[in-house]
Amino acid sequence: MIGIFDSGFGGLTILKAIRRHLPQYDYLYLGDNARSPYGSRSFEVVYSYTLQAVNYLFGRGCRLVILACNTASAKALRTIQQNDLPYLWEERGEVGDDKRGLERVLGVIRPTVEALAQYTKSGHVGVLATEGTVASESYPIEIAKLFPHISVHQQACPMWVPLIENAEHESAGADYFVGKYLEQILTADERIDTLLLACTHYPLLLPKIETFLSRWTTSNQPDRQIRLLTQGDIVAVSLADYLSRHPSLLPYCGNSGRVEFLTTESEERFARPAAIFMGEEVAARHVELK
Ligand code: DGL
Repeated sequence: MIGIFDSGFGGLTILKAIRRHLPQYDYLYLGDNARSPYGSRSFEVVYSYTLQAVNYLFGRGCRLVILACNTASAKALRTIQQNDLPYLWEERGEVGDDKRGLERVLGVIRPTVEALAQYTKSGHVGVLATEGTVASESYPIEIAKLFPHISVHQQACPMWVPLIENAEHESAGADYFVGKYLEQILTADERIDTLLLACTHYPLLLPKIETFLSRWTTSNQPDRQIRLLTQGDIVAVSLADYLSRHPSLLPYCGNSGRVEFLTTESEERFARPAAIFMGEEVAARHVELK
């Protein structure tokens, strides 16, 4: 089984794309909906919640866990990779196990940045993300390492995840907050030609984002072309590549195309919105993280 973790529903946009590209494996999705959103929480809290989730998924037999959450990738991934993996192993009393060292945790920021340069012509990119991801500076730092010629503007969109987690993303009220943040980033740098939705929840707002962009460009800059970038396919392609380079993980990925859903919220509160994200019935099981 491959573990997929997000603070809530957003990681389902990544899971869906991964299953499209790699339908043969088994997946265990965990949404920490009871404690979502993570976006405005401190580094310490996001790190500690993410570590609990990763530990849980490893305990359920996953060898590979994807943090399908930019906020968790920005705030927790590096520390977990560098400091926690050996400790997690020992805590479960598996020292000496011949599979020691096989556990891997991957995030969504690096693969997104690697793919970014092929999309921008002007070399000006806008990053829309949670407050936590923006404050971490993870995107500007990673982009500067790989593509120093690209100029990056970030915009925090603190109301977008709460709108989605509360199923208000299609409401008329959502229009105001979609327009507010987009207007800010579009006017901050008039040469931005690529807008990255750097939060796995945001694809749910795509219809409203597209409508706003087309109205805004028509009345303000009719010649401006703006490309919207979401992360699902980028992460899925990068995962396929990673697995082809790490065949020792394949025996632990399963081979029956099953997917299981876990949530820290109630099963009922998770199942209905999750089914809308996935386009199929979702039966979830409640779990406690600690
Ligand atoms: N889906 C998440 C992300 O990609 C997290 C949002 C949140 O919990 O605030 O950043």
